[in-house]
Amino acid sequence: MMISGKTKVYGILANPVEHSLSPAMHNFWSKQTNKDMVYVPLKVEPGQVKEAVKGAWAMNLGGMNVTVPYKQQVMEHLSQIDEDALAIGAVNTLVPAETGYKGYNTDAKGLLRAIKEKNIEIQGKRWVLLGAGGAAKAAGYILMKEGAKQLFILNRSVEKGEALAKELKQIFGKGEVKAMALSQWRELPEDRYSCIQSTSVGMFPDKDHSPIEDSEFFKRIDKAIDIIYTPAETKFMRLVKEAGGAAYNGLDMLIYQGVIAYELWHPDIKLTMEQVKGAKALLTSMLEGKL
Ligand code: ATR
Repeated sequence: MMISGKTKVYGILANPVEHSLSPAMHNFWSKQTNKDMVYVPLKVEPGQVKEAVKGAWAMNLGGMNVTVPYKQQVMEHLSQIDEDALAIGAVNTLVPAETGYKGYNTDAKGLLRAIKEKNIEIQGKRWVLLGAGGAAKAAGYILMKEGAKQLFILNRSVEKGEALAKELKQIFGKGEVKAMALSQWRELPEDRYSCIQSTSVGMFPDKDHSPIEDSEFFKRIDKAIDIIYTPAETKFMRLVKEAGGAAYNGLDMLIYQGVIAYELWHPDIKLTMEQVKGAKALLTSMLEGKL
């Protein structure tokens, strides 16, 4: 599509931003859905987040994504924040509202769509969450919101795991959330669990590691999603599969957070499965080219 005086500008606010897959994904959908828009990388220096958001508003940007390290910081500069984003404490999508941008968290909802698409049940099930950082919080929030029966947060630092467990319990009343050290996995009640892997262990180039490596642990894991998507199959995923479970990487979560953002910017659009799959094929080929 030709860029003209009518073209709307969107972008991703991050630092670094060079490796982001979001420009390719959103520009792909803009062509597919005939939207006169362009989506560009917006590298912002630390300390310039306020100026970036106010400047984007002043220049009429149609919307933005926000990623590492600004998902928390950006929240101070918005006119409204969606309830889920406020509870999670992180915003990754900005949508124009009356007097400024409204912040959403489409990571959590993107993960939810990826889980549902794989027919993994949440309600009434016992879940294990590996990690207690920013990604874990979005995952733990959506699992509890969707009615997980029990959530076991296993983290290297028990204090951080306990802090996340406490926060989730505060949000969801007396939901059953327990924190333990990664090394304490033997204390999990005997069962087959669904699991989200949200630590950075196993991410390229650290591809020969998994946060837990003992094959006995993996006998307890039925279904798992690793939030990592480089490499396409992490060691964690391999260990789940070797023990007879099903494992998926984080690419669908990435794509669905993009789908939800794109549909927030364009309420008249509902991306088709074909368009979602087209983006997945594009990103997969880009990732293969990079590794
Ligand atoms: P993100 O926003 O991507 O979740 P983060 O908030 O920095 O990133 O969280 C990183 C997660 O990976 C944490 O759970 C961290 O464990 P700690 O809380 O103990 O730091 C986990 N992590 C990182 N490196 C790890 C390692 N070598 N072994 C185990 N866990 C690790």
